[in-house]
Amino acid sequence: MGSKPKVVVTRKLPEAVQARLRRDYDPHFNADDHVYSTDELMALADGADALMPCHSEQLSGAVIARLPDSVKAIANFSVGVDHVDLDAARSRGIIVTNTPDVLSDATAEIALLLMLGAARRAAEGDRLIRARQWRLWSPAFMVGTQITGKTLGIIGMGRVGQVTAQRARGFDMAIHYHNRRRVPAEIEQGAVYHESVEALMGACDVLSLHCPATPETRDLINAERIEWLRPGVILVNTARGSLIDDQALQAALRSGRVAAAGLDVYNDEPDIHPGYRELDNTFLLPHIGSATRETRDAMGFRALDNLDAIFAGREPGDRVA
Ligand code: DGY
Repeated sequence: MGSKPKVVVTRKLPEAVQARLRRDYDPHFNADDHVYSTDELMALADGADALMPCHSEQLSGAVIARLPDSVKAIANFSVGVDHVDLDAARSRGIIVTNTPDVLSDATAEIALLLMLGAARRAAEGDRLIRARQWRLWSPAFMVGTQITGKTLGIIGMGRVGQVTAQRARGFDMAIHYHNRRRVPAEIEQGAVYHESVEALMGACDVLSLHCPATPETRDLINAERIEWLRPGVILVNTARGSLIDDQALQAALRSGRVAAAGLDVYNDEPDIHPGYRELDNTFLLPHIGSATRETRDAMGFRALDNLDAIFAGREPGDRVA
């Protein structure tokens, strides 16, 4: 048997995933889990057969152009691939894969948590208690919005959107959605399809974003579209920060046009727009949609299944370029 393929693993992965990497590959691990600079990455990639990056690595066209010819594959440890210039990879003949399906449950859990946290003012209550400022109970105290029986609007009825819809049905929520294409009836399960984002926005009490970050979806939630929202809507984002124009959303949160926002993803993570911290009606999490032990393992195994296929000369299951 020839030597094992060399794989640069850019971030710290679960032990079971690293064990499989050690068994089947010649891996380079990132001992202190820092984000590599492009120069560091290039030095490590020298002579490597593949990269196993996360969304924290920006593999722009310029970075991909600098990769050595030895790199044949980029097996992402992520479902989102907006950090990779797919055209640049294609033009260099580098195969790119992602990890769909395995993080849908975990991410939908966080969407529901954000929905509830934003609607029921969970962060505000937690802050109050920690600051020893909870003085008394009153019927007028910390009154929020009930999500039971409300209408949930989903933008992007892919895997995560579908699971979120399923979980929200447990709260008797009516599901409306927008997607590039209407999904089959067995997936819709009675959900109401809207051909335009704007029509959906006017129809829901809670709006949850589940579409990929692409040039077309940048600033999807902007000042103009916010005008289409029902006053007092709750906005949830577990997809990518680039879907939201931060200034526009913050203005709407200040005016009350948007009652509250539950956010797990942001522009310029981790240096998020400071305005979100100043608002009481935001429930903020640090990009942990897929951060469960079960899902992290599954993401790693899925990325490795893709690598295994590539190095066995087979088509990987999750090829995106
Ligand atoms: C994903 O897989 O895209 C998650 O956002 C974590 O990177």
